[in-house]
Formats: sequence, structure tokens, C-alpha cells
Amino acid sequence: MITANDDYPKSYTKSFADINMSRRSVSRKKLESYLQEVDVFDNPKMQLEQYPTTPHLAASMLHTIHTHFNDLEGKCVADLGVGSGVLSLGCSMLGCSYVLGVDIDPEALAICANNISEFDITNIDLLHCDIRSLVNHPGRLHGAFDVVVMNPPFGTKNNQGIDMLFLQAGLALARTSVYSLHKTSTREVGNMMQ
Ligand SMILES: C[S@@+](CC[C@H](N)C(=O)[O-])C[C@H]1O[C@@H](n2cnc3c(N)ncnc32)[C@H](O)[C@@H]1O
Repeated sequence: MITANDDYPKSYTKSFADINMSRRSVSRKKLESYLQEVDVFDNPKMQLEQYPTTPHLAASMLHTIHTHFNDLEGKCVADLGVGSGVLSLGCSMLGCSYVLGVDIDPEALAICANNISEFDITNIDLLHCDIRSLVNHPGRLHGAFDVVVMNPPFGTKNNQGIDMLFLQAGLALARTSVYSLHKTSTREVGNMMQ
């Protein structure tokens, strides 16, 4: 388990102090501007489908979850395939109580840990884990989260079906809701799982 280190120089802290004043009032645009400061993968691993969610898409998704479904503030969240952390950071900025970000790639987790430090965020932990191992054996993580968010690999790199495994893991971990980004072409499969 890697946790964000808290002793990062304060001068590096990216400013989102005003967000703490009133999380409910953070506009989608403001959230997007904060997320634009999140560092992304140095050398994305195509085999792991490491394409970061754009700040615009992340802010739109999370702001909708927050304002339309009231599913972030005070909630315990898991982010499956956390990557460099844009979704986890956004969840924290919108007032969730805790986020666990999970990824198979230690290098992605290191970038994410650095982002967490730079934003001076203290309620995100990171777990080095293959999501596939959680599908049948979630252990203590079973039902441990209110909400799961994710932008999973789509299964286009000789890993067909991984998106469905991520969804199954999400359903095992979440008590209430799973919010996941998928290709339009897989919409029929998604409907079947509802
Ligand atoms: C499309 S990227 C999304 C990254 C980040 N969540 C974002 O929104 O920018 C998918 C992420 O899933 C991770 N990943 C791929 N296969 C995985 C697996 N079997 N278990 C855990 N993480 C995995 C990749 O390393 C990558 O960080």
C-alpha cells in the first residue's frame, strides 16, 4: 500500500484552498481548471490503456455525480484504475470523505502520489493491485465503498473483456453506485448489466 506523503514542500502545493470553503459551490468550470494542473503519465503504457481522462470530461462526469445524484459529498469512494489520479482528486475536491485509488502499475501510482502531495490532499490512499484479482476475491473491500468511479481500459489491446471485469469488481466493492466511462460501441453490453 502506498499512501500520499504529507511532507511535500508547501511551496509545491497547488492552490485549491478556496474549494475547501464551500465544496457545494465549486462550479464545473472551476473544477476543470483545478484538474488541468494534474500531471499525467510520463510514458503511457499502451498495453494497460493508459490514456488519462481529460480535465473537461472528468469535471463533467464528477460534477454531474455531485450535483444531480448527490453521490460524492461525504461518501467513501473507490477509483479503479486510478492512473495519475484525475478522478480521485476531483472526488476529493468535491467533498468525498475518503478515496482509495487502485492500479496495477507502480509508475502510475507514483505519479498519482505526487499529484496528491502537490494538491495537499490527505484523504486519498493508493493500492497496488490487479483489479482482476478483486472480481472473485474482494475480501474486506467487498461492499466497503459507497461509490465506485472509473475510466477502465476498454479491452482493445489483446485484453478483451477487461472492461467487464472492472465493472464486476466495481459492483462487488460499491454499496450504492458505480460510475464508469465506456466506449459507445459497448453500450449494449452495459445495458445488459443494469
Ligand atoms: C484509461 S486509464 C484511466 C486512468 C485514470 N483513472 C484517468 O481517469 O485518467 C486505465 C487505468 O487502468 C489501469 N489498469 C489497466 N489494467 C489494470 C488492471 N488489470 N488492474 C488495475 N489497473 C489496471 C492502467 O494502469 C490505467 O492507469
